[in-house]
Amino acid sequence: MSPSPSDHPISLPVASRLDALLIEGSFRVGAEARALERQGRDIIHLEYGEPDFPTPPHIVEAAVKALREGATKYAPPPGIPDLRAALAEYARARGVAATPEEIIVTSGAKPMLQYAVLAVVNPGDEVLVPDPGFPIYPSLVRLAGGVPRVYPIVRQGGDYALDADALAAAVTPATRAVFLNTPHNPTGWVASAPELAAVADLARARGLWVITDEIYDGLTYTGAGLPSIASLPGLREGTIVIDGFSKRYAMTGFRLGFGIVPRALTEQVTALLINNTSCAPPFVQRAGFSTVDIRLAGRNLFTQTDYTGIDPESNLGGATSSRGNEYFNNPQSRSVVLSFAFNR
Ligand SMILES: Cc1ncc(COP(=O)(O)O)c(C=O)c1O
Repeated sequence: MSPSPSDHPISLPVASRLDALLIEGSFRVGAEARALERQGRDIIHLEYGEPDFPTPPHIVEAAVKALREGATKYAPPPGIPDLRAALAEYARARGVAATPEEIIVTSGAKPMLQYAVLAVVNPGDEVLVPDPGFPIYPSLVRLAGGVPRVYPIVRQGGDYALDADALAAAVTPATRAVFLNTPHNPTGWVASAPELAAVADLARARGLWVITDEIYDGLTYTGAGLPSIASLPGLREGTIVIDGFSKRYAMTGFRLGFGIVPRALTEQVTALLINNTSCAPPFVQRAGFSTVDIRLAGRNLFTQTDYTGIDPESNLGGATSSRGNEYFNNPQSRSVVLSFAFNR
């Protein structure tokens, strides 16, 4: 009888790159919380960065309609033309010069984060990542053979801030790229105009790629859209913007994200995507396209989107802020990203 895979000795060597991987503790805690739920315990979930209201019905209907209409085969790898055109319009409304060809649609924001790293980081290159920060950034850098170096997001009064001097001091001749994440997971920090300018100045002066994760853009209470660093003079060609539908539209399970990629990288990033998923599912892209306010950059999506039957104030703890994102750091918020779950 031939041996089954489970008969293999566990000492078979595995690739050393697996040592580089970090996971989000939130997924582990989520699994443990769900196991407790299966035992009948009542759990309040606070693990993931996930709005606590359902996906708006018009988005679900758009996916169902697309499925019924046969959007069930491969799509063009970088995305369906309508969606790419709408996203380019959205980018331009935020001041980011982008054509539809520079929009790459991915299965969630995370694959685009990985493509960005694979596209610009060589083995041995150093990449600056925020601390505290999303654990996937250093994980992806290591997976690509790079070396993550942290820069601090610091507590300042009742708020958080970039320590621009510490960021500059972290740059070495080996530094290739800097990750920016604003609004920031986990602190809720929103980069001010001077802070964005400080990162931009550094990137220009030291020739760094900027990988800017803007997945939480739009989750503001002021109604004002947040500027992207890619809209600052001279930054567009050296910046990869990562964005997506997961948080803004409560679509975490749909797996739909996108990158605004410099023209010089679009073919290679598309090649990475083809090597991975081939395309994001077309019916999911059609659902994304149905989020009509994608074209209305600068609007407060939580209060201006017609989330039928949902009171955004009550869902987000009634938080208000003159400065922007309080999604995470308002203690009353029910939609906070924290790596634990309450047992009620
Ligand atoms: C900062 C940040 N970037 C990216 C992601 C991943 O987004 P997606 O679910 O669209 O892959 C998350 C999810 O928690 C996040 O917090």
